[in-house]
Amino acid sequence: MFYGAGMSPSQSHARIEPATDSTIAQAGDMLRHGHLVAFPTETVYGLGADAFNPRAVCRIFEVKKRPRFDPLIVHVSAPAEAEPLWARVPRAALRLIEEFWPGPLTIVLPKRRRVLDIVTAGLDTVAVRMPDHEAALGLIRRLGRPIAAPSANLFGRVSPSSARAVWEDLGGSVDLILDGGSSAVGIESTVVKVEGGGCVLLRPGAVPVERIEEILPVRRLKKAPFARESPGLTESHYAPRTPLRLITVPSLRFAKDLRRFRELHRRNRIPWPRIGALVYRRKIPSGLIARTAVLSRRGDLVEAASNLFQAIRKLDKMNLDVIVAESVPERAIGLAIMDRLKRASGGLGFAGIHRERKRKSD
Ligand code: TXA
Ligand code: MG
Repeated sequence: MFYGAGMSPSQSHARIEPATDSTIAQAGDMLRHGHLVAFPTETVYGLGADAFNPRAVCRIFEVKKRPRFDPLIVHVSAPAEAEPLWARVPRAALRLIEEFWPGPLTIVLPKRRRVLDIVTAGLDTVAVRMPDHEAALGLIRRLGRPIAAPSANLFGRVSPSSARAVWEDLGGSVDLILDGGSSAVGIESTVVKVEGGGCVLLRPGAVPVERIEEILPVRRLKKAPFARESPGLTESHYAPRTPLRLITVPSLRFAKDLRRFRELHRRNRIPWPRIGALVYRRKIPSGLIARTAVLSRRGDLVEAASNLFQAIRKLDKMNLDVIVAESVPERAIGLAIMDRLKRASGGLGFAGIHRERKRKSD
């Protein structure tokens, strides 16, 4: 058997190869033969299949344990390759392409019949993007067709921004992981649906919505319709195994809250949890936190985004009881960071932790 179905990463047989002309060529040939290949992009690593091979695409859903209702992004190596996938390319879409491709903007438009239903999860639209990464572009060119690829993580987990992170999630079920180093951007593409001369923001991402607004009117969705409009945007996505809670108060105030919680724990004889903190610029001034990961000391949201998923993965390995994540400013790429943190926390704050731990210890 070529694929190791049901294998855990400890039984991994995936090869990790530095992305070079020759490994990219090999990978392209593997895709042509219906295999899956994980590859780097500027945002996060993708798990790729030939977009026109239904069995290979089907395999993506199995390997990721991804529900079939969640459509995939089709990756192209040039704008001209996108046009035959879409029924019609309105001017608004052309303007976005001109401004942002290659780059982390995914554009959703009505699809042509030739685009497989399994790729779009039965929707009559297809999401397309042209990555800004030489290895990804080289791979698509070598295959000679677009590549359907979600992020190369298990469904619901944190996206991988390194080959190693792919290996940890999927090492048992892919044959080849092309290693292009750490993803430069580190957070997924912005997804917009073009309609009526403007667009709808389906997923905040690496391209700040403010930049899109300079070109087109953008309609932002409220929380609820997200899931319906873009099926992958379910809550409780991007979750580490350790519970993650969002801090919405300033860090001095949180340090004070911790002291109060500490008292509550003591009174109820509940052991104090091992807390990991994911902070934006500075440590939370509190001795009650076991570990800290700082996203950007100089307060640069782009740097923070590029460190986000690796920092979450790192804390997730530290045997902590809970990770608390500090809020970042909700502007520019910060909107995407906060979107991922809100999903990872399932909308929960720190206060509930005490009750949960009490229940557990009762
Ligand atoms: O940066 C990225 O976008 C990475 C790299 C690998 O390109 N890919 C990625 O794919 O994040 P994935 O599958 O993890 O997320 C794709 C998102 C999902 O939320 C999905 O629901 C949405 O795009 N999507 C895909 N096709 C869609 C469609 N036709 N209509 C609405 N949303 C769509
Ligand atoms: Mg994903």
